Amino acid sequence: MKWFQEMRIIHKLSLSFATVLFLLSISMGIILWNSMGNVMRDSLETKGIDLAAQLAALSSEPIQTANLYALHELVYLTQNSNKEVRYVFITDDQGAVLVHTFPQGMPKKLLSTHDVSQQKSEEPEVLVISTDEGNIHDVLYPIERGELGYIRVGMHEKTIQQVLLANIGELILTTIFIGAVTLVFCVKLTQLFTKPLNKLIKISESISRGILPAETKVTSGDELGKLTTAINTMTASLKKSEAERQSLLNHLITAQEDERKRISRELHDETSQALTALILSMRAMANQADNSDNKSFILEVRDEAAGVLHKLRDLAVELRPPALDDLGLVAAIQKYLDDYKERYQMKVEFDHSLVNPIPEPQASLAIYRILQESLTNIIKHSGANHVLIILTETDSIDLTVKDNGVGLTVETLSKARSENRLGLYGIQERVEILGGRFAIESEPPKWATVIKVSLPRLKEVD
Ligand SMILES: Nc1ncnc2c1ncn2[C@@H]1O[C@H](COP(=O)(O)OP(=O)(O)OP(=O)(O)O)[C@@H](O)[C@H]1O
Ligand SMILES: [Mg+2]
Repeated sequence: MKWFQEMRIIHKLSLSFATVLFLLSISMGIILWNSMGNVMRDSLETKGIDLAAQLAALSSEPIQTANLYALHELVYLTQNSNKEVRYVFITDDQGAVLVHTFPQGMPKKLLSTHDVSQQKSEEPEVLVISTDEGNIHDVLYPIERGELGYIRVGMHEKTIQQVLLANIGELILTTIFIGAVTLVFCVKLTQLFTKPLNKLIKISESISRGILPAETKVTSGDELGKLTTAINTMTASLKKSEAERQSLLNHLITAQEDERKRISRELHDETSQALTALILSMRAMANQADNSDNKSFILEVRDEAAGVLHKLRDLAVELRPPALDDLGLVAAIQKYLDDYKERYQMKVEFDHSLVNPIPEPQASLAIYRILQESLTNIIKHSGANHVLIILTETDSIDLTVKDNGVGLTVETLSKARSENRLGLYGIQERVEILGGRFAIESEPPKWATVIKVSLPRLKEVD
């Protein structure tokens, strides 16, 4: 019954209704056929006996006077005035046929149907004979207790069947009509119930896709109304926790950026300055060294300190690129890319159409961090040797990063999520907080992974 379970409610109800109606009309037809058939067969027999009794009374005198003509008249009149009468014949007390209504001659078989030797009473006998024309109720009626002979009247069931078929036909038509009217009513009623249910299904589906709909109007106090209220309450609480989550994430990201900024400044202003001072002192020390060995040792240490200073500056730039604050996004990206190309020997193309600096600091910082994460991922996972970055600014700020590496599958992504790898997830979160869109696609054959980010303009989320 899996197919039945998978059907829509409206189809289930219609099918159940049609089945019930079909079974009902079949059983009503059978009951009608049996009960009405029995009643009609009884009345056919009674009529046959009545006719035979009349004939017996009327034929007594013609038999005694051997008036065959009168007997003929009698049997033909009886047959012609009753459509249920298939045949009539009269025999004498020895069983010899006196008159009959068979145009083709008297069938011999009929004579032996009743055992007349036993039939010396006033009681009629009825036998049902099965023939090619259907059942015939054959009535044997003794004339003067059988001393003068017997009347035989054959009543056929044809008319009963015709009446029954006509009645059953009428019943079927009436059932179909009532069924059709009730079905329409049933379908309308189901639609009335399932329409709000379908709406609720759509709402639940959109909730499962992460789109939280506006409150749905509760139009009834029944189960559907209660379900709508429950979904409204669920949506409201989901919206609340989503807002809390976003605000928490926003705070986290801001706190992280502030911390990076602070460490970057600390590294640049404090640690780098101290190291620079140390390097200068070492140079002075080297100049004052008493022998050449000491001098070269001091100079070696000074060079090492200079290397550390260089790395510290790189780290400070990575933590908070000064170019982003001073020169804007494009210059910061270009500076980052120069370093990236040199470090990883990667072919990197950067297409941009930013005429003015992006006024939204959060957006430009987000774009910069997203690009950083995407380019790091390309080195870590893709095996690519060619990267194309497109940054455009229209109604929205759009960043696309394409690489020709191994590509990304849904399985890799869900595996990364389960292992708490948060790079791409972090990108998605940042984008959503800013009300933007994020997608991972591919553009075969050239670009295996295409990361697309679109942030709305002039819409700062606090
Ligand atoms: N450009 C890419 N090409 C191929 N696979 C990629 C690419 N970027 C990401 N992936 C795959 O997607 C997974 C998820 O990336 P994500 O940045 O979220 O995590 P991660 O880089 O592994 O760890 P984290 O960023 O937290 O240090 C990666 O583990 C990697 O398998
Ligand atoms: Mg990553």
